[in-house]
Amino acid sequence: MITLNKNLLIAKGGERDCYLHPDDSTKVIKTLHKKDEHNNQNELEYSYMKYIKKRKNIDLSQVTDCYGYVNTNLGKGLVFDRVFDFDGTPSKSFRYYLANKIIPLDEQEKLIYELKNYLEKNLILFVDTSLTNIFCRKISDNSYKLIIVDGLGAKRTGIKFTLYKASKTYTKYKIKRQWDKFIKMYEKDVKRAKLGKRPFTRL
Ligand SMILES: Nc1ncnc2c1ncn2[C@@H]1O[C@H](COP(=O)(O)OP(=O)(O)O)[C@@H](O)[C@H]1O
Ligand SMILES: [Mg+2]
Repeated sequence: MITLNKNLLIAKGGERDCYLHPDDSTKVIKTLHKKDEHNNQNELEYSYMKYIKKRKNIDLSQVTDCYGYVNTNLGKGLVFDRVFDFDGTPSKSFRYYLANKIIPLDEQEKLIYELKNYLEKNLILFVDTSLTNIFCRKISDNSYKLIIVDGLGAKRTGIKFTLYKASKTYTKYKIKRQWDKFIKMYEKDVKRAKLGKRPFTRL
């Protein structure tokens, strides 16, 4: 049994809390704070990661790998890699970089394009396209890679999720549709950062 406490909390999501693993600083543990069984992001992501990892030559370089469940004082928790920069500091979200205008726009676009290619090439569904679900890993002094930390597979289990998994054409269609949603959210955030009026609350 692993004991989690406030000091280990990294961030709170809509459904899950993300804690630093007390016995392994390279990992995080996600527990549910919303006890709604219908939308169990841990179950979904765990089964989706197991599913894509069965594929031959799957490239996991732009998602966080998942290592299964542990028991914690806050219930079942799912273990993932924590995202780090090349120098060992914990990476920040893409939204943080965007809000603080740290990366020039043309460079941001390149990173986004690279992520899109990655998802299409590996047939990975990124459905919860919030910008806080993407981290920006610094891989050298002036280069980055986007890493998805949440929102893979589906928002809920059901017939559609089964279909996407069964059909490549359907998956490609869904990847494209979700990507369009992501771009809309991205562009909204870029505008907001440019205007600099309403500060970003969630980073
Ligand atoms: N692998 C990770 N490494 C570092 N921080 C993470 C990781 N996964 C999530 N986080 C942080 O925790 C927050 C909540 O986790 P998330 O998986 O997005 O929960 P939810 O499913 O409730 O949205 C994220 O927005 C992010 O700030
Ligand atoms: Mg999230």
